[in-house]
Amino acid sequence: MTWPKVRDEVALLAGYHSPQMQVDVRLNTNESPYPPPEKWIEDLEKEISEIGWNRYPDREASQLVESIASYHNVVSGNVVAANGSNEILQSLYLAYGGANRSVGIFEPTYALHSHIARITGTSIISAERNPSFIIDQETAEAVIAQKPNLIFLCSPNNPTGIVDSKELINYVMEECSKMGTLLVVDEAYSEFSDWSAVRLVNDDAPIVVSKTFSKTWSMASARLGYLVGPERIVKALKEILLPYHLDAFKQIAGRLALEHVDEMNSRVKLLSSERERVAEALQQLPVKQWESGANFILFKPVEKVGISGQKLWELLLERSILVRNCSSWPRLENCLRVTIGTLEENNMFLNALKGILE
Ligand SMILES: Cc1ncc(COP(=O)(O)O)c(C=O)c1O
Repeated sequence: MTWPKVRDEVALLAGYHSPQMQVDVRLNTNESPYPPPEKWIEDLEKEISEIGWNRYPDREASQLVESIASYHNVVSGNVVAANGSNEILQSLYLAYGGANRSVGIFEPTYALHSHIARITGTSIISAERNPSFIIDQETAEAVIAQKPNLIFLCSPNNPTGIVDSKELINYVMEECSKMGTLLVVDEAYSEFSDWSAVRLVNDDAPIVVSKTFSKTWSMASARLGYLVGPERIVKALKEILLPYHLDAFKQIAGRLALEHVDEMNSRVKLLSSERERVAEALQQLPVKQWESGANFILFKPVEKVGISGQKLWELLLERSILVRNCSSWPRLENCLRVTIGTLEENNMFLNALKGILE
């Protein structure tokens, strides 16, 4: 018996999956530490009871898409929703990447950008961020010179937290428009930073911004994401997405979430101020950290404490605190990434870290 083999490109990146473990403090996947608002749950329960389960859902997800469009001050033709922003990224690759096409990616960044490139047979033009994890102008120029079909930026970048400058995104966008390249800005965390590239989106510029309900909106379990972009690109993605891909439950959940913008904004404010508090506390400890515009912080123990990132991760886990172990990832030797949780969770993390390092 000879079993069929999957394509080589499909083999998962080693160490990509974040372990799902029973711990007291879970700070490893950048979720919101808060459940959605109670009113959201009440309204959702009511509307779910009215779903015609024997019927296919609204194929265009019209009400959800209209709510997202009005939230971003664009028109419905500029929005497409999907099962998590990962599905948006995959659809972009299916439409604009693939065999004999290429993507420019600045490492280290969100692992799925290169992973989906491989799955879809898109060649990767891999460029290096500088030691501060910022994309230098010359690095951007070198990628552009190779005329990729797609360029991926991630702002704030996962796992470094770095926010790309407006100058960089404007520059890359202008160059992309000269050579028929699509600029994708992955903004899974932009609510936690001080600016969003959504404002650059218009029907005459080759820029799309992907966003998610998984983080700010406390809805990681619902798997809902979307893209804001020029109408012609939205149309192309709709050709790629499977018919009725977005179930009725999800369409309702997302639409109702957008009725709680004020509450979500105040949570973002709270988490951002907690991030600053955690960053200040980390400054008092023997760790190096990178300035973050997201709901997480990348850090590593300084050499003189003589403890590896892997060991530190294990010691935190022994104290029932789970953070993301990036220590074996290329370019991120000894690094760990901690999600900002509730005040109590952050204190437990900081106390444990202090106990280990001091
Ligand atoms: C940068 C980035 N983009 C996209 C995603 C995927 O989000 P979603 O849950 O919407 O698929 C993540 C999830 O962690 C992320 O960090």
